[in-house]
Amino acid sequence: MSVLKNQDPELYKYIEQETERENKNFELIASENFVSRATISAMGTVLTNKYAEGYPGKRYYGGCEHVDKIEDLTRDRAKKLFDADWVNVQPHSGASANAAVYLAFMNPGDTLLGLDLSHGGHLTHGSPVNFSGITYQAEFYGVEKDTGRIDLDKVRDKAKEVQPRMISIGASAYPRDFDYSAFRDIADEVGAFLWMDMAHTAGLIAAGVLNDPLPYTDVITTTTHKTLRGPRGGMILLGKDGKNKLGVKARKSGRVKNMSEVLDSAVFPGSQGGPLMHVIAAKAVAFGEALRPEFRTYQKQLQVNAKHMADEFKNRGYNLVSDGTDNHLILVDLRNKNLTGKIAEESLDKAGITVNKNMVPFDTESPFVTSGIRLGTPALTTRGFKEDQFTEVVRLIDTVLQNPNDESTLKSVKEQVQDICAEFPLYDFVEA
Ligand SMILES: Cc1ncc(COP(=O)(O)O)c(C=O)c1O
Repeated sequence: MSVLKNQDPELYKYIEQETERENKNFELIASENFVSRATISAMGTVLTNKYAEGYPGKRYYGGCEHVDKIEDLTRDRAKKLFDADWVNVQPHSGASANAAVYLAFMNPGDTLLGLDLSHGGHLTHGSPVNFSGITYQAEFYGVEKDTGRIDLDKVRDKAKEVQPRMISIGASAYPRDFDYSAFRDIADEVGAFLWMDMAHTAGLIAAGVLNDPLPYTDVITTTTHKTLRGPRGGMILLGKDGKNKLGVKARKSGRVKNMSEVLDSAVFPGSQGGPLMHVIAAKAVAFGEALRPEFRTYQKQLQVNAKHMADEFKNRGYNLVSDGTDNHLILVDLRNKNLTGKIAEESLDKAGITVNKNMVPFDTESPFVTSGIRLGTPALTTRGFKEDQFTEVVRLIDTVLQNPNDESTLKSVKEQVQDICAEFPLYDFVEA
């Protein structure tokens, strides 16, 4: 008998319902994935009890001898996975990792140049409603209207105009890869730090199926729960190119320190308290899984699946931002279908297909309505979906979008979704 069910049946019921939802739906949210049972297990351990402010060997609390080994193990695996010189595995989330980068490299009022949120960027890259846009002077580059791609000449012009202290690369809805070497040249021309937020593409980068930012950028942040398929969390990395040896002025003392020291201090005590040791342990599990050869096979497959899904949509007359994808996500512009992202998201949800509405570049709708939907392949590829299943996924989405208000269509699609899901079993447990 489940301990949780016995003690707290009300909570258990809700978790059971969410487990069933994940099992029975097409999960196409590009930022989500399904972690292994071992990863879930590590999160449900006594490690949640332990206070371990500081870093291995330099803690502010006693009794850290075991968690020290866990954090060291996690760091070693992450370094091996990305061929990194240094990592910090303590950020509670992607946003926390990014906050630490700002704290380390920027003074309030300094200028950041980042990708516009409405062109695929992220809130933490300077949005006016986020700390990054409130505390710092945010300037933006975007994508081109006709190609949906970033024009690096325009990024260079903008950088020369606004003279940023830091340039960010990375996105939450950009279907193409980045030319890090070209961004490096631009950053060098204007004397800016170059930061890559690889939250969405970390798994593909680890597997070597997308360009590697580590040799070109000064600092890299990521989430651990998207393509990387770990627990919810964040991480900061430095490449092996000697950047860590570069001195950065410490904010308070003015002492020149290594980048890694400045970043460590920016995480703790700069912006966080005690690390979540149970989550750090789960990161170790996920990184261990990512170091196996099957992980590369998985990343290649999710990329193949994304390209296949893009082609299937185009064959059915859908417009895609940038006309396709290099990574794990596609952005469908629904304007030629006379649909909004809001209507599409809601009707697909009723049919058991989970996506999110998303702004498309130069959108005329509000962020609550939008003209697009964003779809990603990481979660369903984890389930075992290949090209044939993604052909069906697109067929069923198209069926819904042709009849978004027809209840019998939605019901019939939902049954077909559940039949396909039943062939690819996911979680057969509620508690690990
Ligand atoms: C590019 C990018 N950076 C940062 C984040 C923030 O991650 P979190 O939700 O873990 O704070 C996201 C989340 O979607 C993201 O897409």
